[in-house]
Amino acid sequence: MKPWPYPLWVAHRGAGTLAPENTLAAFRLGARYGYRAFECDVKLSADGVPMLLHDATLERTSNGTGRAADLPWAALSQLDAGGWHSRAFAGEPMPTLEAIARFVRGNGFVLNIEIKPTPEHEAATGRTVAEAVRRLWQGDATPPLLSSFTPDALYAAQAAAPNLPRALLLDTLWPGWPAVVQALDCVAVVTNHELMDADLLAQVHAQGRRALCYTVNELADAERLRALGIDGLITDAVDRFAPAA
Ligand code: G3P
Ligand code: MG
Repeated sequence: MKPWPYPLWVAHRGAGTLAPENTLAAFRLGARYGYRAFECDVKLSADGVPMLLHDATLERTSNGTGRAADLPWAALSQLDAGGWHSRAFAGEPMPTLEAIARFVRGNGFVLNIEIKPTPEHEAATGRTVAEAVRRLWQGDATPPLLSSFTPDALYAAQAAAPNLPRALLLDTLWPGWPAVVQALDCVAVVTNHELMDADLLAQVHAQGRRALCYTVNELADAERLRALGIDGLITDAVDRFAPAA
């Protein structure tokens, strides 16, 4: 199997739940706990700017309303993406992928970008994110791992930047997923941790791919997966799991 350049422990949405997800403040907090690898969710503004946001809509994690895909970046950049979490983070902006690239690269960290397209924007999101990553991480030894639940987004990323590493996210083992992983030439499969067992891990490794799991927040789950020989664990519990462990 090819060497795997990503650390075992990956901080989910920047630093899980201790700071507002998918903000630079979350990344800084994860880094303070010793994390060197981060997962974040990326989608497009109405004018095609790749930005960090989990939901299609703004209500849960900002003071905005409606779909992010319907607003230009100039409007999204004015929103408060931290006050919903706690007063300490009031005024925290929603970051662009470019801002996160500066932080990640400036610190020698690595990134797992989950391409999370707004419905009906799958191909455009995959293509635009891949093109942005190619430009922003040009020449870096360890580019971001591009993952998605949405095969169409990954196919578009593959066409735009075939050399970037890709991973299919699986919340269920839907029929035909191995063929999609093969067609996408994925370096990894990232599953809901409840799906992972010795047989699935062996199947993924037999294809020369790595196996990662999300979102692993309990010690017993982490121990079970590590005993199996898992390659990566995406966690909210950055205060519980020391990343070198
Ligand atoms: O990338 C793994 C994980 O983030 C997928 O689930 O909903 O937290 O984006 P979600
Ligand atoms: Mg995610």
